[in-house]
Amino acid sequence: MIGTATAALQIEGGDRNNNWYDWASLPGTIKDGTTPLRATDHWRRWREDTELMATLGLQVYRMGVEWSRIEPRPGEFSSEAIDHYREEIGLLRERGVRPLVTLHHFTNPSWFQGIGEWTHPESVNIWLRFVRRVVTDLGDLVDEWVTLNEPNVYAVMTRLYGEFPPGHKSLPETIKVMRHMAIAHCRAYELIHEIQPHATVGFAHHVRSFDPLHVWDSPMAKINTYLFQDALTDAALGGRFALVLGGQPRQVSPGKYYDYLGINYYTRSAVAGISDRVFPGKPVNDLGWEIYPEGLTRIAQDLHARYPGPIWITENGTADNTEAFRSRYLADHLRVIAESDLPFERYYHWCFVDNFEWAEGEIPRFGIVHNDFDTQERTIKPSGHFLAQVIKDRGVTAEALAQYVVPQRYRLG
Ligand code: FCB
Repeated sequence: MIGTATAALQIEGGDRNNNWYDWASLPGTIKDGTTPLRATDHWRRWREDTELMATLGLQVYRMGVEWSRIEPRPGEFSSEAIDHYREEIGLLRERGVRPLVTLHHFTNPSWFQGIGEWTHPESVNIWLRFVRRVVTDLGDLVDEWVTLNEPNVYAVMTRLYGEFPPGHKSLPETIKVMRHMAIAHCRAYELIHEIQPHATVGFAHHVRSFDPLHVWDSPMAKINTYLFQDALTDAALGGRFALVLGGQPRQVSPGKYYDYLGINYYTRSAVAGISDRVFPGKPVNDLGWEIYPEGLTRIAQDLHARYPGPIWITENGTADNTEAFRSRYLADHLRVIAESDLPFERYYHWCFVDNFEWAEGEIPRFGIVHNDFDTQERTIKPSGHFLAQVIKDRGVTAEALAQYVVPQRYRLG
C-alpha cells in the first residue's frame, strides 16, 4: 500500500505551546527565520488536504498528533484537540485512506521541554500518560501506531549537534535521551496492546548506510552504524539494552517490541575519520544528501535478518525545489522495493505537501504537492501525478516512465 507521511508540527501551524515555536522564536535557530506558526495551515485546511489525498488515490497516510495541543498543561487534556483529530481521521477513513498515527515526532509541549524533556527521570511515565489518553480516545478510529519518530535523530540533533531545541552539546545527555526514548517505545508497545490487543505498533527508525570513504575508514563506519542505529535497534525492537545505552533497565525485559519494522530511509553517509561526508560524483538532492536507492534494501535486509517481520517504509523522500528529479527518485526507490524478496508492505513517501522543515525552515521542498506559503495555495506537482498513476496502475507502466521519469536527471555531487 502506498501513501504519504507528515508530522503534526511541520504542517499544522497556529500552535504556540510547543518547544519548536519557542525555539524558532530565538534568533539564528532557523535558516530562513521562519517559525512553525504558519507552516501549511493544515490545522484549518485539513479538509481540503484530505480531499486532495483522496483525489490522488493515496491508500495510506501517516500523520502525527501534536502532544502540546492534546495535553496543554501537565495532566490536563483538551477534548477540543482530540475532537479535531477525530474529525480529521474520520474523514480520511470515509475517503478510503487508512491512517497510521505517530505519537511523538520531535516536538514537546513547552512544559515538558521546561522540565528537561527526555532527560527527566519521569519522562517515560509522563509521555505514557499521554499515549494512554490518545489510544483510548482514538482507538475506535485508529489501530496502527508509530510510537516515536527517529529517537536517534532526535537525541543527536537536540543533544550532540545542538541544532534542535534545547541546542545542547553533551554526550551523556545524548545517551540518556536515546535510552529513555527506547524504554518509552517498549513500554508504549505494551501499553497500546493492553488497551487495543489487535493494534499494529512499531517505531519509525532512521537508518542510513554508513560506508567508508577510504578503506581505512572501515572500522569507523562500523562503529557509527552501531552507535547511531544498531544499539537503538536492539533496545527498541528487542528490548536488549547494551552498555553504551546504559545497560538493561529494570522496566524492560528482552522480548519483541514491534509488529512491523518501521524504516525512514533517505541517504547514505561516506564516513571519513570522525566526519560524515558524501561520496564525490554521486547523485545528490538539494540539501547535498546522496541519492542511493540500493541502501534502502541493504538496510532492510540487514534489519530483517536480525528482526524478521513485515517492513513498512515509514518515510522516504527528497528535497527537490524545482521538480528536477523527484519522480525519478520515486521510481528508483520503488524499483528496489519491488525487486526485493523482502516482505515490504507499506511505502509512505515523505511528504505530502511542502512544509516547515525544522532548522531548514521553509526552504527545502519535499512535497508531492507544492505549497505557496504566502497564499497557502496547494498545487499537485508532476511527482504527485506520477505517484497517483503508480497507485492506479499498481506499478510503473512504460507510459508513466516515459512521461515522468525519463526526462529527469539527477545532479551529481
Ligand atoms: C526525517 C524527519 C522528517 C523530515 C525528514 C526530511 O528525519 O523524520 O520529519 O524532517 O527527515
